[in-house]
Amino acid sequence: MNIFKTKTELSSFLTELRKKNKTIGFVPTMGALHDGHISLTKQSASQTDYTVVSIFVNPTQFNDPKDLEKYPRTIDKDIEKLKQAGVSIVFLPNVTEIYPKKDSRIFDFGNIDKVMEGKHRQGHFNGVAQVVSILFEIVIPNKAFFGLKDFQQYVIVKELVKKYMADSNIEIIGCKIIREPNGLAMSSRNELLSSQERENASIINSTLQKAKTLTGEKSVDEIKNFVIQKINQNKFLKVEYFDIVDDTKLEQIKTWEEKSQKVGCIAVFCGSVRLIDNIYF
Ligand code: PAF
Repeated sequence: MNIFKTKTELSSFLTELRKKNKTIGFVPTMGALHDGHISLTKQSASQTDYTVVSIFVNPTQFNDPKDLEKYPRTIDKDIEKLKQAGVSIVFLPNVTEIYPKKDSRIFDFGNIDKVMEGKHRQGHFNGVAQVVSILFEIVIPNKAFFGLKDFQQYVIVKELVKKYMADSNIEIIGCKIIREPNGLAMSSRNELLSSQERENASIINSTLQKAKTLTGEKSVDEIKNFVIQKINQNKFLKVEYFDIVDDTKLEQIKTWEEKSQKVGCIAVFCGSVRLIDNIYF
């Protein structure tokens, strides 16, 4: 396995691969790797010649310093998992390597970073855009792989490439959500849940699944109320938002008759841990 800590070393290694016409797939992560991340590396390996995985807990995307502090860091286990998954290129930069000076770029994504996660985590997506654009400039991948659990992030990264990095031709691939056996979407934050919380958090997905079966008989607003009330009945859980939006502009859906693809996106506190999930209707 080739582990790089500096961008210069990584770029010169990747330049040699590009000279041999090899394609590069990229999986950016913040570590605390789980099977969801491993499935991204497998997709990358099936579609490109070489896969680069970065592990970097990006400070600029945390609006709450406590959240940044308690974010799980499991670097030795992560490296072991990547070795077992056959990943051969890992980028492990530190903060000054990525941000030699303060990044004061402000990205304009219109509506899509103002709603849902963007509304509840001010500045979060600007920080994501900062780090992803920097990583893309270093790795210059042909394809980059993002989990659809972070559905809004996936939409915003596509817009980042389209609006700010169009010449790069990077293709953004959204990969299906990988779930624990009880249906809970895999997330690094699940590490922070007690076993009792983890079990109760499975109600998030089962409620979304149930809601999907009710669209023939209930209006959009009734489904929203159903989901919020059902989840809030569980004493471990508190819904922060549940929105049903179209899958490109992320505008609120009012009726099921609208033609666009509809996605229900939810954020729920389980104790102090914030979980997100979504479902296509
Ligand atoms: O989804 C994540 O883990 C992060 O937001 C990402 C894309 C690695 C940027 O820090």
